[in-house]
Amino acid sequence: MSGAGAPDFFYREAQRLGYVARSAFKLLQMQNKYKLITAGSSVLDLGCAPGAWLQVACQNLGPLKNGGSVVGIDLKKVKVPTMHCDARVQTVCADVRNFPKHQIKALSPQQRGFSIVLSDMCPSVSGITTTDAALSTELGMRALEVAVGRSALGHTNSNIQMDGQSKPYACAPDDEGVLRPGGHLVIKLLESEDTQEFRRICSPLFRKTSWLRPKATRSSSREIYFICQSLLS
Ligand SMILES: C[S@@+](CC[C@H](N)C(=O)[O-])C[C@H]1O[C@@H](n2cnc3c(N)ncnc32)[C@H](O)[C@@H]1O
Repeated sequence: MSGAGAPDFFYREAQRLGYVARSAFKLLQMQNKYKLITAGSSVLDLGCAPGAWLQVACQNLGPLKNGGSVVGIDLKKVKVPTMHCDARVQTVCADVRNFPKHQIKALSPQQRGFSIVLSDMCPSVSGITTTDAALSTELGMRALEVAVGRSALGHTNSNIQMDGQSKPYACAPDDEGVLRPGGHLVIKLLESEDTQEFRRICSPLFRKTSWLRPKATRSSSREIYFICQSLLS
């Protein structure tokens, strides 16, 4: 359902086309614009329930013979949708905030990491704008850290702190990110004063960064997607 009363256009289209949620159209729009997922890509989908992005990601891998994989992680147990998904899709039930990066990387093909990391994670919305935005920033920073690793973020002097640490990027055994050089990262955020900080942190790490507010985003929502293309090596 649209969540805002009567079923809307994207909800009806999702039903008609066999997507499990209207959010499919957000990734479809990004895919049309930026061509992030290509044949044989290895995709990590953080916050994957109920599975619409798994469907869009798998569709864009092309035929089975091209290979590729999609790994979804969510707090909720997710059954891989039968439509638009095939054997290349798997899901894991876990909290991304404390799921070690080396274990996430172990889920990638040949344990070589992923070519795309997508994060559509969002907190259970409280309705208190500042609280929701702060939780969303925290999840966004975790997605960034999973993708590029703590060592890559060490130089940033970010004001945004993670896990309540006062020195957020102290060396740890789990330092490496799971995103391969040349790979892409998408992070959903709720707009706040911290949002621009993501661009400041990511601009030196990626060839290009952009913001997108998809057409399928409800007008009442503050969500925005931060798109980082081609991780520099
Ligand atoms: C908007 S939904 C994702 C929709 C999904 N992209 C789709 O198209 O079907 C956000 C998801 O983020 C998940 N989430 C929030 N915090 C998380 C966390 N710490 N670890 C894993 N998943 C999380 C929620 O359980 C929720 O299912």
